[in-house]
Amino acid sequence: ESHVKFFRYIILGGGVSAGYAAKEFTRQGLQRGELAIISKEAVAPYERPALSKGYLSPKRPSRLPDFHVCVGSGGQRLLLEWYREEGISLFLNTEIVKADISSKALTTSTGRIFKYQTLIIATGSTVIKLTDFGVKGADAKNIFYLREISDANRLIEGVKAKRKGKAVIVGGGYIGLEVGAAMRINNLDVTMVYPDTWCMPRLFTSDIAAFYEGYYANKGIKIVKGTSVVEFNANSNNGEVKEVTLKDGKVLQADIVVVGIGGRPLTSLFKGQVVEDKGGIKTDGFFKTSISSVYAIGDVATFPMKMYDEMRRVEHVDHARKSAEQAVKAIKADEYGVSIEEYDYLPYFYSRIFDLSWKFYGDNVGETVIFGDHNPLSKEPKFGSYWIHMGKVKGAFLEGGTNEENEAIAKVAREQPRVGNLEELAKEGLSFALKA
Ligand code: FDA
Ligand code: NAD
Repeated sequence: ESHVKFFRYIILGGGVSAGYAAKEFTRQGLQRGELAIISKEAVAPYERPALSKGYLSPKRPSRLPDFHVCVGSGGQRLLLEWYREEGISLFLNTEIVKADISSKALTTSTGRIFKYQTLIIATGSTVIKLTDFGVKGADAKNIFYLREISDANRLIEGVKAKRKGKAVIVGGGYIGLEVGAAMRINNLDVTMVYPDTWCMPRLFTSDIAAFYEGYYANKGIKIVKGTSVVEFNANSNNGEVKEVTLKDGKVLQADIVVVGIGGRPLTSLFKGQVVEDKGGIKTDGFFKTSISSVYAIGDVATFPMKMYDEMRRVEHVDHARKSAEQAVKAIKADEYGVSIEEYDYLPYFYSRIFDLSWKFYGDNVGETVIFGDHNPLSKEPKFGSYWIHMGKVKGAFLEGGTNEENEAIAKVAREQPRVGNLEELAKEGLSFALKA
């Protein structure tokens, strides 16, 4: 059958983890023609975090090929030529609509079939949409989401068409905060709306959130908290969004709306075929699923987080990269009949907004202390927070840290030193981590 192609290894998905997995395959030794990557995107794997940051910059925005993987971790930039030279088949604009694990076959939307010996699922996440909850008018024009480069391009066109217009940002998580800042830098009049009592409640303490909310207010961003969107009204002549009605009855004018209300791991192709856990595909510490020829990496994997002795899923780029490398090492080790260490991941999240930059390592459990200058009006604010559970430091956050300082808080989160007195710890602040 001419429409059937076989590969020893297939990576399904062409995002961050796919790119890092491809690189790791070449490090481990790959024969030409052994590996295929199948992606519904039109471009080779790139560092997705750029889309809500440099890509949206009005001045000298970053554009591909600048941010193809693996530049985000200081590695080689993998251009289309690289895949060709390595004999890796990159199938772009190719969506898989059916996966059959029993016959090891993937079917594309145009009916082509790919067969594999080993499959790596790297499908990432998709956005949760307001239409999913039946919010009225949520399909109006100029309501944007951000996941892929095509979404970012649509958003940029929208911004160009509505210069100095009004932007309403729905959601106070990562996308809300990063895109809210980017819209303001683009000179739009920005209002953020989210249901929570403060932004990023899954990670931020009220103190940390108060700093960023104050900083945003100072940049002229309006924040409406504790309420959600119930309806959009569009212009009847062109279908473009015009008003956002909130649950509390308030109505906001809007030329564009950007929604960031969370992601959902793309596991649906494999429902009932692999074991799932906590919304993702369950893996072991080598990213092998319940089926021995199938691996899952990045956002979709629910893996044993050794440090905390718990199954978890992580939707951040550092884990996408490292899980990819771990899975490929494990696949090759299996072939050579050798063993490798189990994945032992220290959670690491970060964000950059305006001139700010924060990093978080570890687990945000227990009591917290804040230290340093967290006045949003300061010229050079610099502050942090520790999370303390059962007498040990479990997590550490730092805004405005140097490389050395960031490494120090990472080490604390990894080693979990004991602390006696929380007041002392707050007073010591960063020096606690630096001398630990
Ligand atoms: P990823 O989403 O990168 O790739 C999945 C790929 O699979 C996509 O190319 C998709 O098209 C493809 N695909 C899915 N289903 C398919 C199918 N059926 N057929 C074919 N192809 C299919 N994290 C962080 O730590 N710091 C940060 O600053 C940011 N910033 C950031 C900004 C934005 C805008 C987003 C959306 C996300 C971030 N993240 C982040 C999160 C981070 O980017 C994310 O965790 C990784 O990209 C996950 O990598 P994956 O490879 O798992 O999925
Ligand atoms: P998120 O989970 O970070 O935030 C979702 C936010 O949506 C919540 O904080 C809440 O305020 C809000 N919300 C939830 N339901 C709502 C509703 N019905 N109406 C209004 N608001 C609602 O998700 P996100 O910001 O959309 O990010 C999507 C994905 O991209 C995540 O996986 C995230 O980790 C990733 N991402 C990460 C970074 C980073 O690490 N710096 C940056 C951008 C995106």
